[in-house]
Amino acid sequence: MDLRKSEELYSKAISLLPGGVSSPVRAIKPYPFYTSNAIGSRIFDVDGNEYIDYCMAYGPLILGHAHPEVKKAILNQLQKGWLYGTPIEIEIEYANLITKLYDSIEMVRFVNTGSEATMSAIRVARGFTGKDKIVKIEGSYHGAHEAVLVKAGSGATTHGIPDSAGVPVDFVKNTFQVEFNNIETLTELLERKKDEIAAVIMEPVMGNASLILPEKGYLKEVRKV
Ligand SMILES: Cc1ncc(COP(=O)(O)O)c(C=O)c1O
Repeated sequence: MDLRKSEELYSKAISLLPGGVSSPVRAIKPYPFYTSNAIGSRIFDVDGNEYIDYCMAYGPLILGHAHPEVKKAILNQLQKGWLYGTPIEIEIEYANLITKLYDSIEMVRFVNTGSEATMSAIRVARGFTGKDKIVKIEGSYHGAHEAVLVKAGSGATTHGIPDSAGVPVDFVKNTFQVEFNNIETLTELLERKKDEIAAVIMEPVMGNASLILPEKGYLKEVRKV
């Protein structure tokens, strides 16, 4: 496969962007391919190679690339300006739609990234309960902020150990880890530390540590405890 243009672009990027990329997840060795365009299920690189895109921008492109209806809506909005910094009517319509589609969602705060969403959710849980500790699943990813940048040490249930230089141990001492699909360790931890734990955060399907499915009944049990 010819990837010469991608290689050339990467050699320029490496001195301008840390790791040559704008997100660590794109730092594919020896260099990533550079996209030129995409449509439907296909993505094309600058050397003219075609790929089936199973990634779909890590989720948001659930309808595929350049879906005609989405394109129409974006073009329609572009005619009216694209950044106001003031409230707009469609945010109400959109929030209304989301709350109708998901029973567990009562209100919506729109943010720019998943990291902001999980950071705010954890803050709300801590503020509401008056408790500081959170529980996350070993190996799960919830964004690039201190409370969740933690990997497990040995043992089934463990205090957080920072996963990245620059994250002080003090910042992650309030993060516990448990194994996915292990309802016993989670139940035991929640019972033992119930006066300290504000929230449990998890990916229902672990999508950042390859793809690990919940065992039958696990998520229902988690909700119960
Ligand atoms: C489950 C989950 N939470 C949070 C994030 C962080 O999202 P972002 O990269 O938009 O900050 C990701 C990103 O991969 C994610 O998969």
